[in-house]
Amino acid sequence: MSKKYILEIHNFDNSNSILNNFITEIRDVNIQKDSMRFRRNIERIGEILSYELSKKLEFLSHKTTTPLGIKNINIIKNNLVLCSVLRAGLPLHQGVLNYFDSIENAFISAYRHHITEDEFDIKVEYLASPSLDNKILILADPMLATGSSLVAVYHALEKLGNIKQIHIISVIAAKEGINYIEKHFPKNTNLWVATVDKKLNSKGYIVPGLGDAGDLAFGTKI
Ligand code: URA
Repeated sequence: MSKKYILEIHNFDNSNSILNNFITEIRDVNIQKDSMRFRRNIERIGEILSYELSKKLEFLSHKTTTPLGIKNINIIKNNLVLCSVLRAGLPLHQGVLNYFDSIENAFISAYRHHITEDEFDIKVEYLASPSLDNKILILADPMLATGSSLVAVYHALEKLGNIKQIHIISVIAAKEGINYIEKHFPKNTNLWVATVDKKLNSKGYIVPGLGDAGDLAFGTKI
């Protein structure tokens, strides 16, 4: 039987590059305590994944006049919207913005509402977005754990227009989360992930992961 949904996964786990140094620093239990460094490393990972993702976007031929002549260069068509999940997504959002100067921006809140200590559902509340009609949507979520918040976010966003294509940018993903989003996102969605871990613990945290990305970037919450 053919699969209904197909996710294209770009996982940089096995390619040696400077990306590995940034991932090591955000995971390291001592280095990650420096929240300014943590945020900046997430941002740097966002920059690298943006560069990789850019190769799959739509390009237009552009005639550039230099002081000495004319050169035709292919540049990215500006039909992009970047949506980040508050609050942990903010440093990753900044990383993507550092490269895509004219991208439109959307923000959405999704949080785990705990029913018991180990059981939770996802609440989506705040949403600020431009129209997504005929746009390429980049969804930034640093920790793809169960995948349930990303799917809840997608269901809220799909009401805002006929989305042309979705690219998900994530720093660490769990296999379980990848399998879950594969069943719920449309065909030809691309996932750009710096590294993939095997397990989730009973609280839905990625193991070995890095801990709570929102708390490490912005401090603990009540
Ligand atoms: N969110 C986090 O910040 N960390 C995890 O491991 C999972 C979800």
